[in-house]
Amino acid sequence: MSILTLGIESSCDETAASVVADGRVILSDVIASQADFHSQYGGVVPEIASRMHVESIIPCISKALGEGGVSLKDIDAICVTKGPGLVGALLVGISAAKGLSEVTGLPLIGVGHIESHIAANYLTFPELEPPFVGLIVSGGHTEIVLVDDYNKIEILGRTRDDAAGEAIDKLARVIGLGYPGGPKMDLAGQSGDVNKYAFPRTVFKESLDFSFSGIKTHALNMINQLRMNGQDVDLADFAASYQNAISNVLVENSINACINLKCYNLCMAGGVSANSLLRERISERAKEKGINIYYPPVKLCTDNASMVASAGYYAYRNGIRDDLSMNAYPSYSL
Ligand code: KG4
Ligand code: ZN
Repeated sequence: MSILTLGIESSCDETAASVVADGRVILSDVIASQADFHSQYGGVVPEIASRMHVESIIPCISKALGEGGVSLKDIDAICVTKGPGLVGALLVGISAAKGLSEVTGLPLIGVGHIESHIAANYLTFPELEPPFVGLIVSGGHTEIVLVDDYNKIEILGRTRDDAAGEAIDKLARVIGLGYPGGPKMDLAGQSGDVNKYAFPRTVFKESLDFSFSGIKTHALNMINQLRMNGQDVDLADFAASYQNAISNVLVENSINACINLKCYNLCMAGGVSANSLLRERISERAKEKGINIYYPPVKLCTDNASMVASAGYYAYRNGIRDDLSMNAYPSYSL
């Protein structure tokens, strides 16, 4: 008999619910995205996000159960994102999960967002098992981790300032690409020259940490300078060069982590892992070094509830349980 987990996600601007079997097989994956709505403000407005989650959460859960061909009676555990994220947004999913757990008597499991992103790889590669090195790269995270076991994850390096996605989104806004910037930068850069503009790359000695605020500020100054001098900025070239510089540090630190640990499986996860240049570069470098590279399809890179249901399954199997005292943890870390 399969173990079925219901996943619920509401940490930022996607309301999502999914049913997953045995942590690996997606039975349903429902997402109500608010991105179009927030785009008019150039970024996520937390108060509006919370209100939109309230409107969408129950319809999403009902739809996920319906599309999965199951009812709550068939579910074994209710798994929900507990953090990090926007506190008011997280609380909507957590309240719904607590309510469902209370009326059904089903176990409640709070799941960290990073663990969930990693689990998107379990949904994509049925044979993949820890240990492996993980690069989690999104709007809120940039971390290199060692996934020693399903419930044992150690941080090896992290950003000391901006997340890579934050640095990409900020520049996208300034060059007029709008929100969400990542996919638009990706598209804009595809026809560009990655070597046209030079950007500084911050690398720390004997550390796998990152820093993206320097490159971001450098790029913003460069744009302002070019505009003030009345010079045209070639958006394709600029987007390509900027993403190339960011990808370069992400790739090199991840490859170094694999080599240092003699761990030759590398998984990428999180919204920025959808980036076509990053995927290409990390695949090339991994091949050169004899490292197996894994990343989910684009749909599972960005926030979704299937990854929550998958990570929740492994927590469930490990005996992890939460109760009504569980809170939202906006700054939750591994
Ligand atoms: O994982 P995610 O959906 O949410 C967070 O946990 O932050 O990631 C969202 C981030 C945003 O910064 C978005 O611009 C970026 O992922 N992103 C991309 C691409 N698709 C999404 N960045 C670069 N290229 C993409 N194709
Ligand atoms: Zn995320």
